[in-house]
Amino acid sequence: HTEIIEIDPSAIDMDKLAVASDILKNGGTVAFPTETVYGLGANALEETSIKKIFEAKGRPSDNPLIVHIAAVEDIKPLVADIPNHVDVLMERFWPGPLTLVFRKSSLVPPMITGGLDTVAIRMPAHPIARTLIAMAGVPVAAPSANLSGKPSPTQASHVVEDLLGRVDAIISGGSCKVGLESTVLDITGEVPMILRPGGVTKEELESVIGKVVIDRAIEGGDEKHLVPKSPGMKYTHYAPKAEVVVVEGEQQSVVSRIQQMQREKQKTGMKVGIMATDETKDKYDNAQILSVGSRERLETITNNLFRVLRAFDEIGVDIILAEAIERKGLGDAIMNRLLKAAGNHVVKADGGE
Ligand code: TXA
Ligand code: MG
Repeated sequence: HTEIIEIDPSAIDMDKLAVASDILKNGGTVAFPTETVYGLGANALEETSIKKIFEAKGRPSDNPLIVHIAAVEDIKPLVADIPNHVDVLMERFWPGPLTLVFRKSSLVPPMITGGLDTVAIRMPAHPIARTLIAMAGVPVAAPSANLSGKPSPTQASHVVEDLLGRVDAIISGGSCKVGLESTVLDITGEVPMILRPGGVTKEELESVIGKVVIDRAIEGGDEKHLVPKSPGMKYTHYAPKAEVVVVEGEQQSVVSRIQQMQREKQKTGMKVGIMATDETKDKYDNAQILSVGSRERLETITNNLFRVLRAFDEIGVDIILAEAIERKGLGDAIMNRLLKAAGNHVVKADGGE
């Protein structure tokens, strides 16, 4: 049985939140909103609790979990050391969509880290998440609250769709502002490395700590032989039921190529979805057309991406033809998720696959 607890994030009902934090304290699982996506939480220090997360999601056990905390000082018992330049990162980006990978302390169970000697930690900004973790009084392990392989949930209805009957409680607390998961930054090496692009951009990080590199293994393409440092990045992910093809190139050629592919697919009897942008949506016709947001305001695209992928599943299309987004700023994270949804199937608008 899953208890649904409705909480207004702008006027938190503490009695209702206490029901949820009691479940966490007693070893149960609670899905809750964060500013990135909904998370599925359990006590990070108890293996029996953590195990329930893996079971509910159907998640491979070698994929480590992020530990969520309510205050900066809560990292101390969890990490072996705090590298020098990291204070300024925490000051600038916490609470918020940045996860930091530290060398772990012996307190962190191996089940959290998939056997790695590092631990990923994040302090979320969402008031429900923060208050819940503080009330539970323990660090909270929380992967995205979707079934493994599906797009991450950005509203409570997505969580209900995936996890009803599989978790103890779901807090229904509105939709997630960022809409994509946090940036995962490994700070254990000499040069900080982005293991997963997300809500905080490379440019923003570099403005605070200087040079940052992106793990080349996560981008597919010629780097397919490399093993990603973030185990989660090696799985097909964020995938709707429909096949997804990303079309890349100069905007006008992208539109023409999608129109051409649409006709070809429709001839074979396929139901076609087109993932367009506000700037291009009126150029398409005679298909299931959804705009994912504006190219001028990429935060609208991060906010909508997972919801739109799920919406195509609800409509029941066979294939989604998606316009690529320029890889600048939030475009890194958007393209990372889109390419994962597409299993790296990219078509160049001016010929070639
Ligand atoms: O925004 C988010 O980060 C959301 C919300 C709920 O906080 N959580 C989330 O968790 O996206 P999850 O489990 O879906 O993704 C965690 C990612 C995975 O790619 C995992 O492999 C990576 O973080 N990760 C966790 N611990 C790690 C570690 N010690 N070293 C490298 N990567 C790690
Ligand atoms: Mg996830």
